[in-house]
Amino acid sequence: MTLLVAERLSRIYRLGDERAVGVEDTSLSIDQGEFAVLAGPSGSGKTTLLNLLGLLDTPDSGRLFFEGRDVSSLDESSRARLRREKMGFVFQAHQLIPVLSAEENVAFALWLRELPEQECCVRARRALRDVGLEGLETRRPGALSGGQRQRVAVARALVGEPALILADEPTASLDSATAERLLDLFVDLHSSRGVAFLFSSHDPRIVERARRRIELRDGRIVSDVTAVTAVTAIKSGASGGAS
Ligand SMILES: Nc1ncnc2c1ncn2[C@@H]1O[C@H](COP(=O)(O)OP(=O)(O)OP(=O)(O)O)[C@@H](O)[C@H]1O
Ligand SMILES: [Mg+2]
Repeated sequence: MTLLVAERLSRIYRLGDERAVGVEDTSLSIDQGEFAVLAGPSGSGKTTLLNLLGLLDTPDSGRLFFEGRDVSSLDESSRARLRREKMGFVFQAHQLIPVLSAEENVAFALWLRELPEQECCVRARRALRDVGLEGLETRRPGALSGGQRQRVAVARALVGEPALILADEPTASLDSATAERLLDLFVDLHSSRGVAFLFSSHDPRIVERARRRIELRDGRIVSDVTAVTAVTAIKSGASGGAS
């Protein structure tokens, strides 16, 4: 089933007389449970497009549908609710709250949804275990490695059981071995939970692991290819989809 549809989105940045194309006339659809990467050189529009799809920014023109509903003209509080309930975000720099522990950072995403505190904590601990951080719940971000911090960010994105996780260059601040392990985690979570992933990357080793590759140039999609033999396809077959 189709999760998200973008129809002819454009976002043009204006700085005085200058005009920069963020994305232009871009259409795209993401199915439930997809695993896709946005590739393209610096300045090609990856961040702009992710921000539009994640309702963090509004397009100048075009429409966006989420689970069949036109969400283009929702007011800010409805957009915020949709983001909290249906989406998870992972950014290049983890954006964790430095004074909160790993567990509190993850639980915070649920507190915002006004769930009972006990449930927030239980679910946060479970999410941290799922990303391989059992035993580190009480550490603050400053006492974790870069890879561990990104895992906390993934746990935070995941804890609300979103339909879609949007990740902008999630591996960019990591060394290549750590980046590969984070990708392994994405692949595992994707096959065990069926959550859709859309992440941007310009690292070819990361890009080649995605089943679907969407390539941007100058704010436009220049290719959109789904490979049958990508690692995601092989792994989901091999793991038996344990949940
Ligand atoms: N806040 C902004 N104000 C003005 N122009 C912007 C702004 N954000 C992005 N742009 C411009 O929009 C275009 C697309 O930028 P975007 O950040 O989406 O690219 P990107 O593919 O994410 O690049 P990178 O790989 O470097 O992160 C670029 O030309 C950029 O200069
Ligand atoms: Mg970017």
